[in-house]
Formats: sequence, C-alpha cells, structure tokens
Amino acid sequence: MNAPLLRRVREAGGLHVPLGTLAELSQDPVRDLDELEAFGFSFERHPILGVAFRAPSARLCPDQIEDGLATDCVGRRVAVWNRVASTNDLAARAAGSSANEGLVILADEQTAGRGRRGRAWVVPPRSSILMSLLLFPKGPLADSAWLTALGAVAVAELVRDWTGADARIKWPNDVRVGGRKIAGVLVERGPGAVIGIGLNANVGPDDLPAEIAGSSTSMQILLGGIVDRSELAADLIRSLDRLYLDARRLGPLPLAASWRALSEHIGKHARVLLREGEVIGRVTDLDLLGGLTLVGPDDTPRSYPGSDVVSVSTL
Ligand code: BTN
Repeated sequence: MNAPLLRRVREAGGLHVPLGTLAELSQDPVRDLDELEAFGFSFERHPILGVAFRAPSARLCPDQIEDGLATDCVGRRVAVWNRVASTNDLAARAAGSSANEGLVILADEQTAGRGRRGRAWVVPPRSSILMSLLLFPKGPLADSAWLTALGAVAVAELVRDWTGADARIKWPNDVRVGGRKIAGVLVERGPGAVIGIGLNANVGPDDLPAEIAGSSTSMQILLGGIVDRSELAADLIRSLDRLYLDARRLGPLPLAASWRALSEHIGKHARVLLREGEVIGRVTDLDLLGGLTLVGPDDTPRSYPGSDVVSVSTL
C-alpha cells in the first residue's frame, strides 16, 4: 500500500489533489488509489481536479499507522490483526525475547478481551483501539502501578488532545470523561510486562452492552463523528514512546506527577474499596508510589498503601 500517497491526499484536508502532483510518490497513482479503496479508504475522483480524501478505512491500516511514526522504542514493530482472542496474549507470546521490547499488537476485534478483576472487555468489531504493548522495564519503571499509570496518562492526554474534553484518571486504570469511562488499562506480567489498552473510539451510544452503556463514553460520542482509528493508534504509540523514553531518562517521578494531576479524586469525597474493607472520606493526596490519603468523618487523615487499594469511586 502506498502510505506516502495516502498521507498526501489525506493532508489536503478534503481538497482535490491533481494526479500529476502525485507522480513523485507513485509510478501509477490510479492503481495505488484502487488498492487503497479496496482496503476501505474512500476518495472522490474527478477527471480534471484529481482526487480528494473522503473517509478513512473502517479497518486499522498497518501502513498508515507505521508511516511517519518515528518512535525510538514503542512501535519499533507494529502488528495489526483482524481478529484475536486477546491482544495481551499475543504480546505475552513475544516476551521470550527482550529484542521485542516496544512491540505493539493491535486488533480490529477481540473474541476474549480481558478487563481488570476478571471482567470481559467487549466492544463491537472495528470500533475501538485494542492495543497491547510489550516492554522490558527496569528498576522502578518495572512497578505494575507505574506501568498502569503509563498507559492511563498516555490515553488521558490523547483524549484531551483529540477532543478538548477534561479526561481524568479514576484509580487505578480507568480514563473517564464526566464520570463516564472511555478507556481502561490492564497490565499483565510474565517474562516482560504487557500493557493492554482498550479505548472506545467509534462506538455509538447504542453500541455497548446495556450494563455499561450508561457509564461509558467514546471518542465518537465526544466529537459527534467518527475518528480515524489508524491515526488515533499512531498518536497513542507516539505518546507512549515519549512518556516511556522520558521515564528512562528522568526516572518514574514526572509521570507519577502527571498521573496525580490527571486524577479525578483529589479534593473529592470518595468510597475506597480496600483489600480488606471499605472507607469513605475526602481524598487529600494520591501518590502512585506512596498510596492514598483520606480524611474521614473524624477529620483525621489516614494513608493507605497503593497495594491495599482495590478501587476508588468518587461520590
Ligand atoms: C479494564 O478497564 O478493566 C481494563 C481493560 C483493558 C482492555 C484491553 S483491550 C486490549 C487488551 N487486550 C485485552 O484482552 N485487554 C486489554
């Protein structure tokens, strides 16, 4: 597939591009456009004006994702599948070799997508970002909570950049807008660390299972139109790469600070489910490495280590 030609036509923003100006990118622009159309891209062709971009393919396009990715670690290899059981499984299978650090697995559909705490992750085929990233982090970056934060911060920033919405992180791994979940992160450990990310993209109000529809949102709902999932995936890969490389240079704290700043809990009353029991109070501090501090009805601050906190729900 001719990705540079696709980029040129896409970047014209819906205006026609004369076929003659594509000659430097393609020996046969008509054949290349036919191939892109066969993949699902939509163009308007005019005998004099040339070709104009109309719509992205409903399928994730590996060539489009890799074109101009320019990352150092995350996305050094990108594998895109039509249908898999779980992208996390495929990434884990590649963990036998640390040469696979930065491998990204993407799928248009999962038949056995997993969420946290044994839940299923179900979205319509070709609707969302279903991504797993394989890393071999060292020292403090190998901490599972930090890796979860890496995924959550990358997604929250992406949603903010694309929609302008005030995306926030609900402890420990949900990204929400206005209290509705748009993405989740599932970190699984083996010889490497797999960061699985599910981000609702082209999901309409009626597309989700009834039990989560009322508490979920999507890029489509926020923007009022569909998004180009391949571009969204590429931006997410770039964002993960930037955050991970920064952390390898500067350590875990800058990301921990971003995670805290993006948290939806600070200053709010919350119900905190602990490994043993439950507490309610106002969250006064939240630290990825240190845990959570809560002021209860008796006005006394109490801290709970992060490893004891199962979930936090803002009241
Ligand atoms: C959660 O919020 O419970 C975490 C959801 C994580 C879902 C993603 S989709 C891609 C990757 N593959 C999976 O099976 N799960 C994660």
